[in-house]
Amino acid sequence: MSELLVLNCAQLVTLAGPARARVGSELLDLSVLANGALVVRDGRIQYAGRREDMERLAGPDAEVVDAGGRIVLPGFVDAHTHAVFAGTRAAEFDERARGATYQEIAARGGGIRATVRLTRAASEEDLLAAARRYRAWFRRGGTTTIEAKSGYGLSLETELKMLRVIRRMGYVPTFLGAHEVPDEYRGHIDDYVKLVTEEMLPRVAEEKLAEYCDVFLEPSVFPVAQAREVLCAAHRLGLGLRVHADQFTADGGSQLAAELRAATADHLEAASRAGLEALLKAAVQPVLLPASVYALGLSRYPAAREMIGMGLAVVLATDFNPGSSPTASMPMVLSLAVTQMKMTPAEALTAATINAAYSLGRGDEIGSLEPGKRADFAIHDCDDWRELSYFFGRETAEAVYEGGACVYRR
Ligand code: NIG
Ligand code: FE
Repeated sequence: MSELLVLNCAQLVTLAGPARARVGSELLDLSVLANGALVVRDGRIQYAGRREDMERLAGPDAEVVDAGGRIVLPGFVDAHTHAVFAGTRAAEFDERARGATYQEIAARGGGIRATVRLTRAASEEDLLAAARRYRAWFRRGGTTTIEAKSGYGLSLETELKMLRVIRRMGYVPTFLGAHEVPDEYRGHIDDYVKLVTEEMLPRVAEEKLAEYCDVFLEPSVFPVAQAREVLCAAHRLGLGLRVHADQFTADGGSQLAAELRAATADHLEAASRAGLEALLKAAVQPVLLPASVYALGLSRYPAAREMIGMGLAVVLATDFNPGSSPTASMPMVLSLAVTQMKMTPAEALTAATINAAYSLGRGDEIGSLEPGKRADFAIHDCDDWRELSYFFGRETAEAVYEGGACVYRR
């Protein structure tokens, strides 16, 4: 038996509350304890509460971690990333600064397809090395759970290669074979959809390489009809669904996510009121990705206030990828959520932890510091939890623990 005591937390932000994703005013309730302490036994939280009550619960051989009067909170759960890829797109970033748009660059063969060429050429070990480098960035911001999508392979062999790397990293795996139509299938989208549904998906399911299937639903990429085919095939194979919906165009993305009872509809910058109402009725969680709006230099952020007002269980994520969102920083996303979408600091924290955990089907395991859950937590260099979204442009984690084991220390 191994035991860990975390003492001297100026604020222990537990997120304890109802065992479901939080909605409406529930997003404001972080369950913060002053002078809190944690007892961790065999990687699980045994106790999260006040220091005074804890002394009698800890054994004499417990390892003591002094939080140094800082704040302790659950590890961030990043429920939408493309964290496995080769190369960068810094040259396209330069072009966008000169006026080219993301969609123009994609139309002439750059964008996602540029990363596909590099990722196809990379070995599994090279991809793994790049992914490990980026994981260190996630951890510096206090992230402990990462969902990651394939989608830079776009052939059977290279999608499987990506998914194997995602598995080796311990990420929550999502198959995104319908991320773009690859070079060799331009003008033959239906043939490509056939490849995805008849060859890729069955193999992915057979080898249990993904829990979820995602599609980039956009009229210029995968329109509703093709997206429906892919998602229905995935559903028949037992995969959960997530959808890149209404990012640039409201093209029925939210409605399709609702119709198919997807776990999440992600992006939603262009979503309509009717689309949001469909999500609410079907209990689909919106995943908001403000860093992609920011990094594309755009100004239309998703309507977070309207969504919270309607009772949607909002989630925040980085969308980390080499094109639209080159950041692995959850603290940066929190800052954007507050300044650009007018979420409050508390709402943003709830969306980045417990709500994100429920969106990944892991709400009973992670996302809050409650007895029985995995001991995934971070000690942040802050005096008050509001500083996480207030100071920006710095990574705040002092130390990060996954399953009670230290995985990062500044
Ligand atoms: O979520 N929109 C589509 N997919 C990603 C971007 C991927 C890329 O540009 O490489 C996104 O923004
Ligand atoms: Fe994305």
